[in-house]
Amino acid sequence: MITVFGSINLDLVAVVERLPLPGETAAGPDHQNFPGGKGANQALAARRAGADVAMTAAVGTDVFAAPALANLEAAGVDLSGVRRLDGATGIAMIGVEASGENLIIVASGVNARVSASWLKGKLPQGSLLLMQMETPAAEIRAAIAAAREAGATVILNTAPAGDPAVSELASLSDIVIANESEAMEIAAKLGLPGEPEAFVRTVAEGRLGSARLAVVTLGAKGVIAHDGTALYSVPTPKVRVVDTTGAGDAFCGAFAAALDRGDELGAALAFGVAAGSLACTANGAQGSAPDAAAIRQLAATLPISRSLLHANTAPEAENSLGKA
Ligand code: RIB
Repeated sequence: MITVFGSINLDLVAVVERLPLPGETAAGPDHQNFPGGKGANQALAARRAGADVAMTAAVGTDVFAAPALANLEAAGVDLSGVRRLDGATGIAMIGVEASGENLIIVASGVNARVSASWLKGKLPQGSLLLMQMETPAAEIRAAIAAAREAGATVILNTAPAGDPAVSELASLSDIVIANESEAMEIAAKLGLPGEPEAFVRTVAEGRLGSARLAVVTLGAKGVIAHDGTALYSVPTPKVRVVDTTGAGDAFCGAFAAALDRGDELGAALAFGVAAGSLACTANGAQGSAPDAAAIRQLAATLPISRSLLHANTAPEAENSLGKA
């Protein structure tokens, strides 16, 4: 089972020819609203990928709350941990250009008031707690402590970049999923190497606190990971990119779902990459979240490269962290 402690937003999306630079205006023909928020996107992706998922989060008392929750409800995510707080539901203002690249401005609303205390009784032993950086760092820290006490495994997706506490929170987690710039940011803070391969090795060697498995997502180049036994890489398949919003979230949710059901690490990475790639083929962060059958079909076509760290490593030690 996967518990997601994270953000819920409504995404207000405008398609523009070219994303604006600071001080510029970019005009598009109209806008569309989609459910979003990194927490909600990852919860939905994990659920569509076949996991039992519960979400602990907040929405406001405004008109954005219902549409923000619609997909999660329809997919059967357990929303008993989602509270309705007096105030505004989080929103994200998103520009998407022809290449599929995006620019996001988030107004956190009640996401800034979620509390780790709401997780009490909601973290079964052996379950996964999946978090991102769109909720307050102090609550993420408290949630990690709650997971430790309950015997749950913590997966931290370090997106979005920029929170000064991210290195510390990554070092308290079990599994860290970062993109290239987030890995650089974490490494720079701690005086560790930030280049993707060196970063995942460093984490696997135990030089990032309790974290033992690191995954760096490389966008169109795929993913790289290290679990202390072997270095894994999976390339991104060629797809027709429409909108990259939520691709990272689809990876995280599907990857977590694969770990939750006990997939071997290489297979879990391929499953995540396939989900992230399919998520780029339609508009919106959630509308494009693929189901397990579609993910499995694409994942089966992806080569998984695995190189051992030490030639004499016992095979039975492989992927121990992949079976969360
Ligand atoms: O990762 C994509 C998400 O980031 C969007 O859905 C938006 O809400 C922002 O939180």
